[in-house]
Amino acid sequence: MLQFSTNEPEATQRFGKELAARLQAGDVICLSGDLGAGKTLLVQGMAAGMGITDDVTSPTFTILQVYDNGRIPFYHFDLYRLDTSRELENIGFEEYVGTDGVAVIEWADKFVEAMPENCLWIEINLGQGENERIIYVKPEGERFGRLCEELR
Ligand SMILES: Nc1ncnc2c1ncn2[C@@H]1O[C@H](COP(=O)(O)OP(=O)(O)OP(=O)(O)O)[C@@H](O)[C@H]1O
Ligand SMILES: [Mg+2]
Repeated sequence: MLQFSTNEPEATQRFGKELAARLQAGDVICLSGDLGAGKTLLVQGMAAGMGITDDVTSPTFTILQVYDNGRIPFYHFDLYRLDTSRELENIGFEEYVGTDGVAVIEWADKFVEAMPENCLWIEINLGQGENERIIYVKPEGERFGRLCEELR
């Protein structure tokens, strides 16, 4: 596990950008943590790192936003408003996650059992003061274990 803190929104975005540069098709990033901690901001940094030029907003009302103009497809999920894993099936979760692009999932901890075995868990929590955030990076599986070492 990797733990560090950021002291400004841009630093969280930069981490997302550096992470994205190392990702490949099939990779799944599971996000959790406090409301308003910076998950979407991290996703914005990731999108920039994947070469996506669209504005990335929270897909809360659409659950899934697909970005096709980057280096590889980028699937941004926000499960905050989902109540059951049945609804995950309805949005075609399995057709996107772990396939031809990178999937990043906000509020993944609501449906832990629906997440793939190999994924990178990132928890972002509020720290002290307005702009501090504590970030925990927890790899599942060999590939993400190695990637985590590289990020250190
Ligand atoms: N160090 C920091 N890292 C990330 N965001 C920060 C930081 N300091 C302040 N912020 C602010 O915190 C807010 C994070 O909002 P964001 O929408 O990314 O959170 P979120 O975790 O996606 O929220 P939600 O739980 O509603 O999905 C932004 O307004 C951002 O400017
Ligand atoms: Mg969000």
